Amino acid sequence: MRLTLFVCLIIGALINYAAGVDPTNFKTCEQSSFCRRSRKVQSSGSKYALIRGTLNTYTDSVTADLINKENHHQFTMKLEALVGSTFRLQIDEKQPLRPRYRVEHALKGKPETAQIRVLESDELTITSGSAKAVIQGDPFRIDFYENDVHVVSVNAKNWLYFEHLRQKAQAPAGEAADGGDGAQQEQQEQNSDAVQSPSEPIDEPGTWEENFKSHHDTKPYGPQAVALDFSFPAAEMLFGIPEHADSFALKSTSGTDPYRLYNLDVFEYIVDSKMALYGSVPVLYGHGPQRTAGVYWQNAAETWVDIYTTETNVVSSLVNFVSGSRKSTPPAAHFISESGIVDAFIMLGPKPIDVFKQYAALTGTHELPQLFSLGYHQSRWNYNDERDVTSVSAKFDEYNMPMDTMWLDIEYTDGKRYFTWDKFKFPEPLTMIKNLTELGRHLVVIIDPHIKRDNAYFFHQDCTENGYYVKTREGNDYEGWCWPGSASYPDFFNPVVRDYYASQYHLSKFKTVTEDVMIWNDMNEPSVFNGPEITAPKDLVHYGNWEHRDVHNLYGHMHLMGTFAGLQQRDPNQRPFILSRAHFAGSQRYSAIWTGDNMADWTHLQHSTKMCLTEAVAGFSFCGADVGGFFGNPDAELLERWYQTGAFLPFFRAHAHIDTKRREPWLFPERTRQIIKSALLKRYSYLPLWYTSFYELEQTGEPVIRPLLTHYPLDKEAFAIDNQLLVQQRLLVRPVMQQGVSKVDVYFPAIDDKKNGDYWYDVDTYQRQERAGYESIPVDENKIPVWQRGGSIVPRKERQRRSSKLMLNDPYTLVICLDRQGKAAGTLFLDDEKSYAYRDGKHIYVSYEFADNQLTNRFIGKPQYKSEAWIERIIIAGLGHVPTPATITVNGISQQLEVEQRNGAIVVRKPAVKMDVDFALKLNN
Ligand code: NOJ
Repeated sequence: MRLTLFVCLIIGALINYAAGVDPTNFKTCEQSSFCRRSRKVQSSGSKYALIRGTLNTYTDSVTADLINKENHHQFTMKLEALVGSTFRLQIDEKQPLRPRYRVEHALKGKPETAQIRVLESDELTITSGSAKAVIQGDPFRIDFYENDVHVVSVNAKNWLYFEHLRQKAQAPAGEAADGGDGAQQEQQEQNSDAVQSPSEPIDEPGTWEENFKSHHDTKPYGPQAVALDFSFPAAEMLFGIPEHADSFALKSTSGTDPYRLYNLDVFEYIVDSKMALYGSVPVLYGHGPQRTAGVYWQNAAETWVDIYTTETNVVSSLVNFVSGSRKSTPPAAHFISESGIVDAFIMLGPKPIDVFKQYAALTGTHELPQLFSLGYHQSRWNYNDERDVTSVSAKFDEYNMPMDTMWLDIEYTDGKRYFTWDKFKFPEPLTMIKNLTELGRHLVVIIDPHIKRDNAYFFHQDCTENGYYVKTREGNDYEGWCWPGSASYPDFFNPVVRDYYASQYHLSKFKTVTEDVMIWNDMNEPSVFNGPEITAPKDLVHYGNWEHRDVHNLYGHMHLMGTFAGLQQRDPNQRPFILSRAHFAGSQRYSAIWTGDNMADWTHLQHSTKMCLTEAVAGFSFCGADVGGFFGNPDAELLERWYQTGAFLPFFRAHAHIDTKRREPWLFPERTRQIIKSALLKRYSYLPLWYTSFYELEQTGEPVIRPLLTHYPLDKEAFAIDNQLLVQQRLLVRPVMQQGVSKVDVYFPAIDDKKNGDYWYDVDTYQRQERAGYESIPVDENKIPVWQRGGSIVPRKERQRRSSKLMLNDPYTLVICLDRQGKAAGTLFLDDEKSYAYRDGKHIYVSYEFADNQLTNRFIGKPQYKSEAWIERIIIAGLGHVPTPATITVNGISQQLEVEQRNGAIVVRKPAVKMDVDFALKLNN
């Protein structure tokens, strides 16, 4: 019976994989009772007020009680000032029947608080540096100001909604209470000391128990939703809240479902959709020309977000004109979560980059990745056996294409028992791994969180004996179905389980890998093939007695914490590389992410930039999409364009479903091979820029890839552009993502409201764009439209190697593109590309500056890394003359260098200066 069910589920899963998403497998807001109830408040409003006389002020915060004027339930409110123009607002029940869940482990540490000054009059004004909050008592509302500009309002719409925990109304004698069972009663008994609120039955179906398809949610604690609205008076558009296969600019949800944040394994997801996907990052930004602000809604339960965007239609403009009002209703977001508390961080900017940094200050950044992980990754489900892996790697050499990492999907394991190998297909993994590492390559293997329920499997034995699995309400080990068949799920919320899990990566235990083998954590939403919405039931119980409902969106994050600790303990001197599918706020500290099971079609290619841009501003700069598309078979043109696009996203991996045709580049005609090869080479030539950008992300929190609005906040035309991206403030990338085109429209953003733009230099021809606005750019099949900004300096490496590791000591090329004043600047970071020694200063971090026809360098910190590399070439675009010769001065000794013209630039050949040496390069006028 079990076997039949398993076979059906696996076949079902595979068929689903082939047939496309079935939206009826996933709830709508209407089908989710808390969403439905909380959304209703949008028409009626709510009635919360501050209770006079309860105010307490501290050096960095104020607290007060709130009351719901309808049912008289009381809440505590705390508003705390944090360093960096950020406030934290927390609202919880004053005396809940049981504690309500507060998210742990998402923040990178305890946020640093800031001193406040409090001014009490009719309103309560709290200032901290240039940040100010004004609290209104009745109705309760807070307005936030940055330098006296009003940027965020909390509860301006009066949609605060807080379902206090309550006892279920007693069913008439003789009738069993709906969902009111042992657990409920026990809880009530446990709380007999607490102040009990009057029973307030909410009649709606779904309140005390809920069904979806064949699944029953027992809801032992009844309704407990929290919801709140945030308005952005200085904004014209909203963005953020990944993960959705949708545009960068959030769309109005009027007449549609809200955007949903609930980590789910969605087979063949559709694009232009507000449906939930694998990751949930509840951070949202409001942007307008003068100000950018953000809100991080720290809640790990299922969450829906309604979006209200500014109405700028003729009627509203007319009304505004007649009424003299400044503008129409500001954009707003309404966050609705199933449980937990209100824990919102309000980040006041003022500029886009400031808000991104404020968010990074809270939740952290990815640490500097090992250089190899920024190279090209070759994956498919599955490379069949050792020979397959070795011969694919060899083919890259045969065709002279760089490749850094081979990946093994689930089939390498012994029957999906993670930490084991299929001994027939992979009899000698260590030899296979050595074959790769000797070539400077890496291997990544998949380790999923579901554990095969097999009594002979050590991992299952340990988890069973020690009680490490997530439990059902009855206290049994929860059993679901996934790749291995019947499976259970370690409770990573338990620190002991995380330690156990981490220890499994130790080479004394996982003996069949080496310390160079890195990890892919997939299916960690968690995916449960026979669970409600293909995930775990909400009434499961985790460590600390929390329901799965409270912590769902954090499950993958906790999995990652275990893996990250495991890899660090395995080799404390090597930076871990982990790829994860599920993610929450803060998961960027542990892993890169990818956009999951996309499809081999043009719309999915287009969504790769949109989705990664949104992820990047939500902390996940290390983002990519399966190159070629996971499902289906891309034709040559789609594959070519996908490689070209992937080459300019931070995580660059080709991957494909088990049923797809093999698609390694040499299986395509010569033309396609050449195009792919040149995209790969281009990627490798920019590795120094990617690497430096990631170092700077870790240091500053500034995303590696950025939407145009980051540096062109005044240019309204640029706000919603999501088919172009910036790499830092140095490159502008507009991949070709449409079929059969011979030109693309590229938008060159304006720096002011007079439509002045930066200079942009085509990186292939150095042809210069001087005007802001749209340009139609011709593209042939080889063209990846990329420009370098005038005013920037980009480091490159141009020697062709089989992997990035072999480029360690290769010489650098500096590409200098001049701005209107003939100036440029840029940084370069280098170290051993692998260890943590850079944290002890063993690195070279250098800033280059070009002005008055002279290039100079300045070290940031003392250069303490001994590099064999040197500068072999300096390219300067925008000089307008060929200054020959050039003079380089090192340690007081000057030497003349040859200068030649190449395309629209000049090239200074062989400065031959080492990376840790001061120099000045003077060009003749
Ligand atoms: C789902 C992942 O999204 C996909 O990339 C992987 O190939 C399959 N699981 C099998 O592990």
